[in-house]
Amino acid sequence: MVLAGDNRLESMCGVGGRPVSVVSLRVPHGPGRLRIPAAPTVGMAGEALDEQPIQEPAHRECAVLRSLCGGAGIAYSWPMELVVISRGQVAVVSMLHRIQQAIVADGFSFVPASGMADVLTTAGSRDWEGFSRSWDDLGLDAYMADGGRYRRRRHACFSLSRHGVVRKPHQPHYQSRDYNRLNGGIERWFDPVDDAVADHAVLQAVLRTGFDLFDPLTPSEVRPPAWHTEVHQFRIEASPAQPGCPTPEGMHRDGVDWVLVMLIQRENVARGTTTILDAAGRTLGSFTLTAPMDVAVVDDARVFHGVTPVLPVDATRPAHRDVLVVTLRR
Ligand SMILES: [Fe+2]
Repeated sequence: MVLAGDNRLESMCGVGGRPVSVVSLRVPHGPGRLRIPAAPTVGMAGEALDEQPIQEPAHRECAVLRSLCGGAGIAYSWPMELVVISRGQVAVVSMLHRIQQAIVADGFSFVPASGMADVLTTAGSRDWEGFSRSWDDLGLDAYMADGGRYRRRRHACFSLSRHGVVRKPHQPHYQSRDYNRLNGGIERWFDPVDDAVADHAVLQAVLRTGFDLFDPLTPSEVRPPAWHTEVHQFRIEASPAQPGCPTPEGMHRDGVDWVLVMLIQRENVARGTTTILDAAGRTLGSFTLTAPMDVAVVDDARVFHGVTPVLPVDATRPAHRDVLVVTLRR
């Protein structure tokens, strides 16, 4: 197979008129080999290509062109680099591609934990239990204009780019009242995410995956060198006397470019159904994050999202819904 150039590559992989040929793949440490063809030719594994060991993990823009019979795959990176990847990595890149296709088509995607777990593991995730336990140590959100005392949270900001994840100095969370009529319009200071959580393999994997998903979906003319990325740890508590409202502002947009919501844990709660609306208020989808690692990804410029209140299943026991929210803004 000979490629004529960028246009040919993109037209092969375009979806809905938008090129999505470029997805990001983190090449892990290990026995991988980076193959660099002398000519713009995509070859099969085993063909005579100049070959050199991968020196370090690299964030490469690439597109899976095919799976190979021997359990390996080929990804194409522009310009002129081939990366031989395992069957598992082919599956992961294919999964990311499918999520991107859904976002392009619908403005959102629900990704079940069964698929997300493979993606995150490949991105380096480990010690889910330790990560999840950190939700037991969140401070009360005292800014709730509805008077509610049912939301706990921590907050952190990062810079996210192809060069990696860098934490920014702690800063307030700000939403204009255009996006949050209930609690917006002021700088809200929340407890910082613990360093151990910010550096945790799960969060780092989620952030890298978010970059891999969203950066290629952003038109190149507006794609930033680095994304302003905010991370929120949320716990919504519910009691028989007071349901917990995950989105007390109702159906809304966050005022960013991309949103990723991952369920950490549901403990003794019912409901909490996510609904997605288009700009005209038509329902595009409705689903419930029920399993740890269930994820919703949202094109915030296109669609509104909201979550119904949660209630205890057993009124005699504590009840809460824990989520991780990651937003990317240019
Ligand atoms: Fe939101």
